[in-house]
Amino acid sequence: MIIAVDGPAAAGKGTLTRALAEHYGLPRLDTGILYRAVAAALLADGADPSDAQAAEAAASTLDLSRFADAELRTSGVGEAASVVAAQPRMREALLLFQRAFAARPPGAVLDGRDIGTVVCPDADVKLFVTASAAARARRRWLELRQAGQDVDLAAVEADIERRDARDASRDAAPMRPADDAHLLDTTEMDIEAAFRAAVAIIDAARG
Ligand code: DC
Repeated sequence: MIIAVDGPAAAGKGTLTRALAEHYGLPRLDTGILYRAVAAALLADGADPSDAQAAEAAASTLDLSRFADAELRTSGVGEAASVVAAQPRMREALLLFQRAFAARPPGAVLDGRDIGTVVCPDADVKLFVTASAAARARRRWLELRQAGQDVDLAAVEADIERRDARDASRDAAPMRPADDAHLLDTTEMDIEAAFRAAVAIIDAARG
């Protein structure tokens, strides 16, 4: 079974997909980490994240072990990842890896922006997880504070809105719900409620 989970930044896809992967006994791929690693490689090498050639080369030779997870989770790398991700040839370079991951039995849970539309258009179940920008900003702000980063809530919200606008308006695999995606708005839900709602959708979709 392939479960595709897309949605904007800080919508809670990470926590939700980890719980779904455990519940259904499936491996999980956070595809955002691939774009973040490409962005981090460019930044580390002093290259510009909007340099399409450098981005394609970095994606083709991607080494995920080069960076610690925490290094990839900063808002600076997230912003650069969104710039990198607008380039079609670098996206192409990451596509085979994502599809191969999904195709291995018994399937997978993938989270990203274009899983239901481009990476796995034939996924068994597609979820598009959203929440209001204010709710998402607050959750991200709390996460960053817990990780010891001193950030301003309004700045986090502005970052998130700018990143979403870029991810949704690009020509290459823009973030959008697939026509057959189930929308899950978690603005008023805690993690447990979002998990239960997602399981109800998935189980109903599987019949
Ligand atoms: O999910 P995230 O915040 O880790 O993603 C970082 C950036 O990577 C995001 O702003 C857009 C890009 N991305 C993408 O274009 N397609 C994906 N499937 C996943 C992430």
